[in-house]
Amino acid sequence: MPDPGVAIVGATGAVGRTMLAILEERNFPLSSLRLMASARSAGRVISTRWGEVSVEDLATADPAGIDIALFSAGGGRSREYAPGFATEGAVVIDNSSTFRMVSEVPLVVAGVNDHALAAHEGIIANPNCTTMALMMAAGPLHRRAGLSHMVAMSYQSVSGAGMTGMDTLWNQTAALSHQREALVQGGWEATEQPPFPRPIAFNVVPLAGGMAEDGHTDEEWKLVNETRKILERDDIAVDPTCVRVPVLVGHGISASMWFDSPLEVDAALNVLEKAPGVEIWDDARVATPLDSAGRDPVLVGRVRPTIGAPGGISLWVVGDNLRKGAALNAIEVAELLL
Ligand code: A2P
Repeated sequence: MPDPGVAIVGATGAVGRTMLAILEERNFPLSSLRLMASARSAGRVISTRWGEVSVEDLATADPAGIDIALFSAGGGRSREYAPGFATEGAVVIDNSSTFRMVSEVPLVVAGVNDHALAAHEGIIANPNCTTMALMMAAGPLHRRAGLSHMVAMSYQSVSGAGMTGMDTLWNQTAALSHQREALVQGGWEATEQPPFPRPIAFNVVPLAGGMAEDGHTDEEWKLVNETRKILERDDIAVDPTCVRVPVLVGHGISASMWFDSPLEVDAALNVLEKAPGVEIWDDARVATPLDSAGRDPVLVGRVRPTIGAPGGISLWVVGDNLRKGAALNAIEVAELLL
């Protein structure tokens, strides 16, 4: 394929900006770059490695000439515009949840299930950011031993909720940092709240996403359904809890996994050491979200045997949700297409 024309849809958002940064870092071989967002941003000029680019209003942008469109402007925009871009000849790599569970749409974690890409019909889905980080470890272990059951607790940063999420944490932290006594004894007052249901600064919110079936949130159901689709096994039992924490970037997941037959820690470490895009951190280093921010690899630590129900593996995974969890994976998929 000659160098493709690339568009970032949602270019002014948290993920869109990271997409641009990663295209630049990797000197992605593109013939033209277009940036699109809402009418609010139209006309804004962004300086890029390929020159100054004026942001276009998605609603009026002509998709002709775009070969690869990286969409991260929210599910509604993907639903409305991605099929039209694909009809005009672009391959859409979509970061929203809109098409993830559509059977003809591949759901790809680069390095884990690249083979699924071959079947695409113009739209490829990028998995949910929490699922993505977890699959970087669970995928290779599954290939080795057959994943049958997983209990996963996420510790998700606010950037999973976009720029608004980051602004909310920042502003609330400023407002609450003047109320130290009230934070200890009660009586605090937080100003901004959305997009989170409870204050997020100095706090932990054990409900990420919107409430869905069986007392689980849509975010938790993504972990269940996307895990099964990516690992191509419909009967994997997944018990998820998704929690929002006052961290700007980096989603952590604490998971216990059981396989078709018992898996020893040494064997698991042996698999994880060879897994692409994974860095093992030992207990002396303690991989945290701050360590993951701005880095491509997903960090894996605390690898240990399950002790309540022996035979499984417990571990901690943390990754930059804007990078491998979103923008980086989309660009790795684009590179695989080339
Ligand atoms: P804009 O900055 O013009 O609002 P985030 O989730 O990090 O806030 O990013 C959302 C991205 O999606 C932004 O680039 C935002 O553009 C874009 N976006 C939001 N609503 C629309 C819309 N109606 N049409 C096109 N782009 C949109």
